[in-house]
Amino acid sequence: MCGIIGYVGKRQALPIVLEGLTRMEYRGYDSGGVAIVGAETIQCIKAKGKVALLKEKCRLETIEGAVGIGHTRWATHGEPSERNAHPHKDCSGDIFVAHNGIIENYQALKEKLVRKGHKFVSETDTEIIAHTIEEYAKTEKDLSTAIRLALKDFHGAFGIVVLSKKHPGTLIAARFGSPLILGIGKDENIIASDATAILPLTNRVIYLNDGDMVVLSENGFEITDFKNGNGRQERKTTTIEWKSGSAELGGFPHFMLKEIFEQPQALRDTMRGRLLPDEGTVKFGGLKPFEERLRSLDSITLVGMGTAGFTCLAGEYAIEELAGIPARREVASEFAFRRSAPCKQGCLIAVSQSGETADTLNAIREAKRRGMLTLGIVNVTGSSIAREVDAGIYNHVGPETAVASTKASVSQVLLQEMFALYLARMRGLSKSEGQTIIKEMQKLPAYAEKILTSAGSIKRLAKKYKASRSFFCLGRKYNFSSALEGALKLKECSYVHVEGGNIAELKHGPISLIDKNFPSIVIAPKDSMYEKNKSSIQEIKARKGPVIAITTEGNKELEKIADTVLYIPKTLEMLTPILAFIPMQLFAYYLAVERGNDVDKPRNLAKSVTVE
Ligand code: AGP
Repeated sequence: MCGIIGYVGKRQALPIVLEGLTRMEYRGYDSGGVAIVGAETIQCIKAKGKVALLKEKCRLETIEGAVGIGHTRWATHGEPSERNAHPHKDCSGDIFVAHNGIIENYQALKEKLVRKGHKFVSETDTEIIAHTIEEYAKTEKDLSTAIRLALKDFHGAFGIVVLSKKHPGTLIAARFGSPLILGIGKDENIIASDATAILPLTNRVIYLNDGDMVVLSENGFEITDFKNGNGRQERKTTTIEWKSGSAELGGFPHFMLKEIFEQPQALRDTMRGRLLPDEGTVKFGGLKPFEERLRSLDSITLVGMGTAGFTCLAGEYAIEELAGIPARREVASEFAFRRSAPCKQGCLIAVSQSGETADTLNAIREAKRRGMLTLGIVNVTGSSIAREVDAGIYNHVGPETAVASTKASVSQVLLQEMFALYLARMRGLSKSEGQTIIKEMQKLPAYAEKILTSAGSIKRLAKKYKASRSFFCLGRKYNFSSALEGALKLKECSYVHVEGGNIAELKHGPISLIDKNFPSIVIAPKDSMYEKNKSSIQEIKARKGPVIAITTEGNKELEKIADTVLYIPKTLEMLTPILAFIPMQLFAYYLAVERGNDVDKPRNLAKSVTVE
C-alpha cells in the first residue's frame, strides 16, 4: 500500500526513482509521481494509473538532477487522480513531500493553515505536511528543525520523505507507524518504504524506528529522534540476503504463477535447519530465551488478516490437538479492540507476510497491554511486526510480489504446525509421534511438486467455469481454513463472488442458493471428516449443484459423485491444508487469466495494508 522512495547521490535520480516505483508496484496503488531537484527548479510529474504512464510522461520532459523522490499512492483521502497523487508541495513550491500512512488530525490542521492564508489544491491529508513545514520554516532557517516541529503536530501514522529547493543535496525522511528503510551506498544514499526498491543499489540497510528522522546527503546520513528529542541515534546496519533478481519474473507470465510454482522450495526453506528428526521435534532459534514461558502457557491466540488470518484456523486445530493448549484464532482487527482481562500466561501469535499490517500490529500492542507473550510469524525481515514482537519465526520464503498470497500462506500453515509440534514435545508428546509428523512434513515439498503437475488440467477446468458468477468453497476442521482461503483467492484474483464456509453450515441456510449454475468447491480429503463431507457433497448433488472435489490420491469414490475431482497426495490430516491450498490457487489464477484480470495487482487491493 503506497510506496515511497528518495535518492540522493551522484547519479541521475529520475531513473533510480522510477525503477524503485516499478519494483513497489506490487504493493498496490492507483497513481504515482516524482519530484526531482534540478539546477533551478524542482520538476514534479504525476500520473493517474500505472507507473508505465508516469514513465511515459517523464520521457517527454528533460528532467535532470541527482536528488529526487517518488511515490505510488493508494487512495485514502480523495479519489485516485493526478491532483491527489504525491509528491505534494507547499504554497511557495519550495517543499515537496511524499507520504505513506494517514494524518488523522489533518482536517483541524488544514483549517488552521487555511486561516493563515495557505492554499490547498488536493483533497489529501498529505498536503498539510508540506504546508505545516512551510509554516515552521518561516521562523526556522534549518529545514530539519522546521520538519521536527511539524512532525509533532501530526497524529496518526506516517512515513515521509521531504525535499526542498533551498536545501539541494539533502533529503529528510521520518517514520512514525509506516515503515522506512535507509539504504547505504557509496557516494549515494536511498530511502524507501520497501526493501525491494533499495536492492538494485545496495543491500546494506538500516530499518528506521518509529520516532526516527534521517537527514541524507550523498556523503552520509544522520539519524535523530524527533519524538523525544533524544538527538543523534545509532542504528544497526543489516545486510539483506534477498537477491535483487528474486523479485523478477524469471520467465513466468505473472508473479502469482511464479510464486505458486516456488512453493516446493518455499516449504523446504521454511523447514531448513529447524527439523530435528532424531529427537522428533523442531527448533526455533528465536524462541530459546522464552522456553520457560512457553512451557507454562495456558492459552494461545492466533491473529492475522486475510490469508494470514485464515492460516490461523489450521494453526489453532494443530496446537489444540498436538499440544493440548486451548487455542483460538481471532481476526486481528477485532482482537485489538477488545479490552479483556490481563492474560499473563497467554501468548499471542501474529501471522503476517509483510510484517506491516496495521490491524495485526494493533493486536500485538493490545496483547502487550494484557501482559501476553507476543510472537510473530513473519516473512519480511526487519518489518515492524518482526521488531515489535517479543520473539519471532521467519518464513524465509523470499519476497512475495503478487498481491495474492501463495507461497507465504503455505509456509504460514507449516510454521504454525511446526510450532504446535515444538510445544507438544515440551508437554509430553512422545518422540516417536514427533518423528512421524516430521517424516510427513519432510515429504511436503515433493507432494507440492506433484500437485503442480496438474496445472494443465486445472487450467482447462478454469475455462469450463469461466462464466460462473458465484461459487461456494467449503470444508471443515483443518480444511475450514482451506475453504476460506480458497474463496479469498478466487474473489481477489478472479472477481467472482465466492462464499467460503464450513460445509456443516450448508444445511442451516446457504444450501438454498444451490442450483445447476452455482458450483461448489469442496475440500474433502480422506480424513476424520471425510464421511461427513461426502454426505454434504451428496446433498449438493441432489440439488443439481456442480461439485469440484479436492480429495486424497487413490480415493476414486468421489469420481462417481462429484463433477470433477482434483487430487492431493495422502498426508497427515493436519498437513492437508498446505496441499489443498495449491489446486485452489491454480484455479483462481487461471480463472483470473481467463477473465482478463490484472492477476498480480487486482483492482482495489494493496499488497500490504498499512492503514486500519
Ligand atoms: C492475500 O492473498 C491477501 N492479499 C491478503 O488477505 C493478505 O493476506 C492480508 O492483507 C494480510 O497481509 P500480511 O500477511 O502481509 O499481514
